[in-house]
Amino acid sequence: MTRPDQRTVLVVDDEPAHRLMVRAVLEDAGWTVADAASGDKALALLGKVQPHVALVDMKMPGMDGLTLLRELHARMPGLPVVLLTAFGSVGSAVDAMKQGAFDYLTKPADNEELKAVLEKSYEYRRLIEENARLRAERTGENGGIIGASPGIARVRELIEQVGPSEATVLILGESGTGKELVADGLHRASARSRKPLIKVNCAALPADLLESELFGYVKGAFTGAVKDKPGRFQLAAGGTLLLDEIGDIPAQLQAKLLRALQEKTVEPLGGVKSVETDVRILAATNRDLRADVAAGRFREDLFYRLAVLEIPIPPLRERLEDLPLLTGHLLRKLGKKNHKEIRTVSPAFLEALTRHTWPGNVRELENVLERALILARSDTFGLDLLPPQLAGLVSEQADAAPGETHNALPAALGHAMDDAERETLVRALGTYAGHRENTADALGISRRTLQYKLKKYGLTKR
Ligand SMILES: Nc1ncnc2c1ncn2[C@@H]1O[C@H](COP(=O)(O)OP(=O)(O)OP(=O)(O)O)[C@@H](O)[C@H]1O
Ligand SMILES: [Mg+2]
Repeated sequence: MTRPDQRTVLVVDDEPAHRLMVRAVLEDAGWTVADAASGDKALALLGKVQPHVALVDMKMPGMDGLTLLRELHARMPGLPVVLLTAFGSVGSAVDAMKQGAFDYLTKPADNEELKAVLEKSYEYRRLIEENARLRAERTGENGGIIGASPGIARVRELIEQVGPSEATVLILGESGTGKELVADGLHRASARSRKPLIKVNCAALPADLLESELFGYVKGAFTGAVKDKPGRFQLAAGGTLLLDEIGDIPAQLQAKLLRALQEKTVEPLGGVKSVETDVRILAATNRDLRADVAAGRFREDLFYRLAVLEIPIPPLRERLEDLPLLTGHLLRKLGKKNHKEIRTVSPAFLEALTRHTWPGNVRELENVLERALILARSDTFGLDLLPPQLAGLVSEQADAAPGETHNALPAALGHAMDDAERETLVRALGTYAGHRENTADALGISRRTLQYKLKKYGLTKR
């Protein structure tokens, strides 16, 4: 396994002498070099090494450089590929650039030029990733976890701490609290992020189907098994496997799963050999697994295997202070999806949201807001857009007419306000557990300014 900070280049060339020469030059420049004599061998290597960039010879017997370029991009989108072409075939190099090669060099490549191009491609790759990460942090897009409550701040902190480790994590929370979102975050924060995150819903399939989904089968294992099929453990190779709804896994599969986790191998159905696996395991459930263990419904040894670390997500009703941020975030997300923009949410609308108990948590909130968005005939949300059982939680008079809603919260927070400032405030508040004085100090502003900004961004109740 390569260290995440180690730069790795994949070199593919059919000439052994040229591979050796390139290896020497690049190792000297601090690269870790993985090389392969053909496209097929290079693709086979991808399970074991995770290159940051690739250097590929155009003309090779078997799979040529252009085909390999496409295959590499199918497996690792965004991987910068530098092609080596024979002198005089610049035409095909231009073709290659059109197909997404990062750059090309003519053979024999000048050592300095070679190092410079690879350096540039690595830097480019790093910038793209850094940008994507910053954008995701700032806007909460790509599955960012929104919320200003200490509970959610703790969840984000745990993701940062635990994400990069190889530890098995058990994500606990009621239905709709964002367990899958947390799993996405853990995977993204890990060195495995460039490999797949594969999810299996253990509640969705009967035992025998789930078994073949997880572990795969070999040709002839049963009627209809006309060829080998890899299981999800194998599909997640090098990446992460989320065992969702783990509390609902049939009893007869628990022992086999435990063995797979302990021995890091799986036995495909009907097979005689066990297959080694390289996956990081995450599990999620809305059940009280400890109670299930106590009642004999869930194996204790499996529980301890899975719960090396636990991330509990508090239910929404215990963190109603997250409602304004979540509402803003979800409205922006839903607005994009429905091509409809909401500018203001009436105070009564928000008030009703805070009085509901949210058994379906954030997913329920998302549904309520989407319904309102679809029904809305102006760019303001009033009580009339809520389902009756929710609207009934506050009085009609409380709903001010549009235009008089001076203290209404802007709905699409990101449109009207500065995303970055808001995110900073939320983070700082989370870091200091909502303590105003410490938060203001940390941000280098006065308490009054903090108070004003919290109000401005709807981070206080009033
Ligand atoms: N803190 C949050 N910030 C932003 N969006 C959230 C948050 N929590 C949940 N969501 C959104 O709510 C929806 C439900 O989340 P998710 O599917 O992760 O929940 P879950 O806990 O896996 O639910 P279930 O137990 O029903 O499978 C998703 O659309 C998710 O993006
Ligand atoms: Mg889920």
